[in-house]
Formats: sequence, structure tokens, C-alpha cells
Amino acid sequence: MKYYDGKTILVTGAYGGFGRQFIAQLLGSGALLILSDVAVRDIADVLGPDLARKLPADWKNRIIAEIPADLSTGDGCRELYDRCMKTGREIDIIIHNAGIAFVGTFMDIPAESCEKVLSINLTAVMRLNKLFVPGMIKRGSGQLLYVSSVAGFVSTPFAIPYTVSKFGVRSLAMALHGEIKKSGVKTSIVYPFWARTPIMKSQRFGDPPTRTMPDFFASDPEFVVRRALKGAARNVLHICPGFFATFMWYAVRFWPIIAEQRSMREELINN
Ligand SMILES: NC(=O)c1ccc[n+]([C@@H]2O[C@H](COP(=O)([O-])OP(=O)(O)OC[C@H]3O[C@@H](n4cnc5c(N)ncnc54)[C@H](OP(=O)(O)O)[C@@H]3O)[C@@H](O)[C@H]2O)c1
Repeated sequence: MKYYDGKTILVTGAYGGFGRQFIAQLLGSGALLILSDVAVRDIADVLGPDLARKLPADWKNRIIAEIPADLSTGDGCRELYDRCMKTGREIDIIIHNAGIAFVGTFMDIPAESCEKVLSINLTAVMRLNKLFVPGMIKRGSGQLLYVSSVAGFVSTPFAIPYTVSKFGVRSLAMALHGEIKKSGVKTSIVYPFWARTPIMKSQRFGDPPTRTMPDFFASDPEFVVRRALKGAARNVLHICPGFFATFMWYAVRFWPIIAEQRSMREELINN
């Protein structure tokens, strides 16, 4: 994708399932990358031989920095910002990709775990935007690509902190877009459905009555990231990668009887 050629892009959660695809596809498009995750890892190892083989010969020179940062804390977000500034480069695009999940009933997931999900998936995005976006507004350019989820528009039982955080990210992204779009800073939000990445093996609490989703429903992370990057390059605000994400997007509009949303509808009718 020519759009990314020469752009400096910060990717959070860079060594995860989607992260490694962002790295490979962006390097293949000529981007310069600043990678961040909890701890630095060997990139060749993260990519594996399949992805590494497809990269341009000079790919290592295109990694500007690798910055370990725990985004669950304000200090971690600040550290990431300070170290990005030390590279002397202006960040053209931030991909807010880091995220965690826990599975279980709301009563079974400990309060600290609920707060951890919110701190990484939502508060960190607010903190990083507060640090990075003023510079983008001043320059009159920049782009934010948020990785939300179908759980960001369908209230999802047995993953309540996660669904709250992903609704929050969608809300933050849309409202901030309303404030900054005239300054030239672009926004895209991607809503993946189920994809084969390590987050699917997230810790479970109690004995939630959730069954494992059949593999048939799962998307390939390579496909999800390709759609996300293509959508952002076209400045699409809401990106639903694949059939199931798109189906759910329309389902909540035309058939609002999904999960807990059924009772919301009944209340509206009764009032
Ligand atoms: N896979 C799906 O089905 C799916 C669907 C919808 C949305 N998403 C979203 O996609 C994004 C990427 O997830 P993924 O599927 O690629 O899962 P993943 O492989 O678990 O990637 C998540 C990344 O976030 C990092 N991370 C965790 N805690 C962090 C912290 N405190 N500070 C900084 N980074 C931290 C993880 O690092 P460690 O591995 O070192 O913990 C990992 O690299 C997430 O926002 C997720 O919610 C995924």
C-alpha cells in the first residue's frame, strides 16, 4: 500500500497476533516503525520465518525504535511518549492496538482485573492521545487508527470489562474525531470479530457458560490487518473487516435483539 510509504508509525501491542501483522504489512509498504510492547522481543522471532521471508531486504533499517512500556500506568504512557520524542521523528500515524481481555461473569472477574483491562484498553489510549495529538493538531496532519472490536458495539456478556473498554474506545475515537477532524488529523476505527490470536486464550475466571467459538467464525489476523490498513489509507472512519463483523454492524441497527440489548428494547417499548 503506497499510502504508508515513508510514514513514521507507532504501533502499540506490537508483538501480539495483530501486532506482528501490522509490522510485516507496514514494512512491506515502506513504512518506518516505532514498536512498543510490554517488553522488547526479537522481531525476527516474533514474525517467524513465514512473515520475515516476505519482507524487503532493508527491513531492519526501517525499525526506528523498539520501546518497552507498560501502558497500564500513566508513567508507562509518558515513558513511551518521551522515548518517541527522543527519536527526533514526527509520528504520522498511531495504531492503538495493545489490549487484554478476561473471560468470566462480572461477579467472578476480580475488581483489579476489571480495572487493568480498562487501564490498558481505554485509559492508555486517552493518555497517549493527550500526549501525541496536540503535536498532530499543530502540524495539521496525523492519523489515529484504533483497534476496537465487535464488542465495541455489541454489549458482550462474560467479557464485561472488555466490552466496556471497547465501547469506550469507539466513543473516544468518534468524539475526538468530531473535535479534531478540521485540524487535518484523521481517524479510523477497526472492529474485528473473532481472530486467531493469543488474546483468545485469555484468562478465565469462575465457570462462565461460554462455549469455544467454532473455528469457522474465526478470521485470519493477516486479513483483519490488511482490511484495517486499507480502510485507514482510504480514510474510512468505521472499518468492519470481513463478513461476521459487517453482519454484526448491521444487525445491531436493524435487529437490535442481540444479547442483553433485547431487554433494552423491551423497556423502550413499555415506556
Ligand atoms: N483477536 C481477536 O479476536 C480480536 C478481536 C477484536 C479486537 N481485538 C483487539 O486487537 C488488539 C490486539 O490484540 P491481539 O488479538 O493481537 O491479541 P494479543 O496477541 O494478545 O496482542 C495484545 C498485545 O498487547 C500487549 N499488551 C498487553 N498488556 C500490555 C500492557 N500493559 N502494556 C502494553 N502492551 C500490552 C500484549 O503484550 P504481551 O503479549 O506481552 O502481554 C500483546 O502484544 C487488542 O486491542 C484486542 O482487543 C482482537
